[in-house]
Amino acid sequence: MAKRILVPWKILDIGKRHLDQSGAEIVMLHGPNGELPETQEIVDQTRDADVVLSCGGVPIPAEVLTANPHLRGVANNGVGFNNIDVVTATQLGIPVSNTPGVLTDTTADLTWVLLMAAARQIPQAHQYVVDGHWQGYGGKEFMGLDIGPGGSNRPKVLGIIGFGRIGQGVMRRSQGFEMIVRAYDPPMKPIIENTEGVEHCELDDLLKESDFVTLHCPLTDQTRHLISQRELELMKPTAILVNASRGPVVDEVALVTALREGQIAAAGLDVFEREPTLTAGLTELENVVMLPHIGSASTDTREQMSLLAAKNAVIMLQGNPPEQIVNPEVLEMSEYQQRLK
Ligand code: 8YV
Repeated sequence: MAKRILVPWKILDIGKRHLDQSGAEIVMLHGPNGELPETQEIVDQTRDADVVLSCGGVPIPAEVLTANPHLRGVANNGVGFNNIDVVTATQLGIPVSNTPGVLTDTTADLTWVLLMAAARQIPQAHQYVVDGHWQGYGGKEFMGLDIGPGGSNRPKVLGIIGFGRIGQGVMRRSQGFEMIVRAYDPPMKPIIENTEGVEHCELDDLLKESDFVTLHCPLTDQTRHLISQRELELMKPTAILVNASRGPVVDEVALVTALREGQIAAAGLDVFEREPTLTAGLTELENVVMLPHIGSASTDTREQMSLLAAKNAVIMLQGNPPEQIVNPEVLEMSEYQQRLK
């Protein structure tokens, strides 16, 4: 019987062509208008699949992973893999792969887009012009915040939470703005200490001292609601929070309150706690810039992500370990060997 790869949503053509070349049967699962499938449909289709190629918006819970004792792997089309129950996958000996590296620059760029747009009120100013409110000099002036030393000649403090590839990319991009850079990431502390131009800082100090706080940590039990009411209260009233990591890292109800009450100046958000549903009050705020989770969305990068995910899927289909594996310990497990028989 031909081997089967289940794609429980979509994949760009470049990735699909690679899957097709493997000779496997490719089963795509989405509604007529591109809707995400229900988990039960994914469970049903996984029973006959050898590999699942998922992506960030598609949950792969334990029911999917336990549906088929011969499932050889899950290839995620994204660097974040909090959509997959990796603990269960590991217990079952199922390798999980992701797509690190290719999206680092694109996501670091987008972080700066959000930071600058929030600091200088760019979407609001654009809308003002589009709506015909601009009557010439003397109108609303959209006075924003400096990113560089600016009029006060004070270098601004950039606080980076999560100093992995993307956090480091954000730091490199800060150099032209002559910023003071602080980073908080306990497991990466030795890297931070060995990186020129950045200083390791405890979370509370980073929050108190930063003009811009930007989040780049993965979503884990430790980072869920890392930024809640207490942390927002520590921030300066002139500070801006940027989140291009995962929505649930921020307690969105507390964020709405902080933005409404002026505890912080503004926020730039690419991700949301219950996306695409927005917490009540967010859309009424004038000091937030929101994007529909497009951190990695450049054509070149999304194509490379699709190709990488497809390559990992085919490698696992052939019974080999994927190059970008997030749970390498499975490769030593008898449960993994059993699945290849
Ligand atoms: C993806 C992302 O768009 O890679 C990630 O972790 O958040 C984005 O690049 C998302 O995962 C959908 O696949």
